[in-house]
Amino acid sequence: MSDVLDSRSAATTAHAQSARMAAQASGLTKIYGAGNTRVVALDHVDVGFEAGRLTAIMGPSGSGKSTLLHCMAGLDAVTDGETRVGDTLISELSDKDLTLLRRRRLGFIFQAFNLVPTLTAEENIMLPLMLGGRDADEAWASEVIGSLQLGDRLQHRPDELSGGQQQRVAVARALVSRPDIIFADEPTGNLDSKSGHEVLGFLRRAVDDWNQTVVMVTHDPGAASYADVVVFLRDGKLVGELKSPTTDQVIDRIKGLEA
Ligand SMILES: Nc1ncnc2c1ncn2[C@@H]1O[C@H](COP(=O)(O)OP(=O)(O)OP(=O)(O)O)[C@@H](O)[C@H]1O
Ligand SMILES: [Mg+2]
Repeated sequence: MSDVLDSRSAATTAHAQSARMAAQASGLTKIYGAGNTRVVALDHVDVGFEAGRLTAIMGPSGSGKSTLLHCMAGLDAVTDGETRVGDTLISELSDKDLTLLRRRRLGFIFQAFNLVPTLTAEENIMLPLMLGGRDADEAWASEVIGSLQLGDRLQHRPDELSGGQQQRVAVARALVSRPDIIFADEPTGNLDSKSGHEVLGFLRRAVDDWNQTVVMVTHDPGAASYADVVVFLRDGKLVGELKSPTTDQVIDRIKGLEA
């Protein structure tokens, strides 16, 4: 259990070779249902998400993007294969250790924000630390809140905030525990283009200035162009990647996948 609680032990353990990967999967297969309703959502996926990078996951609707995030984050059980966060083998964890790992080492950002409606922005941001039984690093929390320009909105509840502000609260909530990896599923899907670019700019900055690791599902080639690398899924299989992608390169690749 010790490496669940202390990610820094990763570099010193037997899997040191994989230490530059914040998370990885090998032979990852996820099958939903059985018989007539059987769906192979992921089909022997091998993928690694490099630490200190922003990775985008793209692919047609139903290609398995959300399933990949959920399996990597231990939100969904795999049918076959392995997933690791750092050196921690997700499938070997008890439910209790999995909950601890998610609270202490992972951050999540969802399309629909998923803030607690009865809590203020500040309480939402601090919730993962409270649940994880940890004291806030006040200086870090202020830096995150300041850079997300939320300082004058901290006492507002989610229904008193714009969509862009709500998603910035969700970004702050994900960052405040300095997770090993932030998983974001279509973080700009519900935002207008200006708010979307703001959120993407903050995610980029979290990687460049704070050495965070972000893995983001997106449908938007413009959003993907913020990434260091884009991986493409089709029919539950990994079918390619682009490094330092431009919007036009992503559009070309997507056209090829949908042809
Ligand atoms: N809980 C579930 N039960 C049954 N089938 C599921 C479940 N979740 C996903 N699927 C199926 O698995 C496949 C992959 O779904 P997934 O949600 O990962 O796709 P996606 O790439 O995220 O799509 P989108 O872009 O529309 O969000 C789809 O065929 C979907 O219908
Ligand atoms: Mg999805």
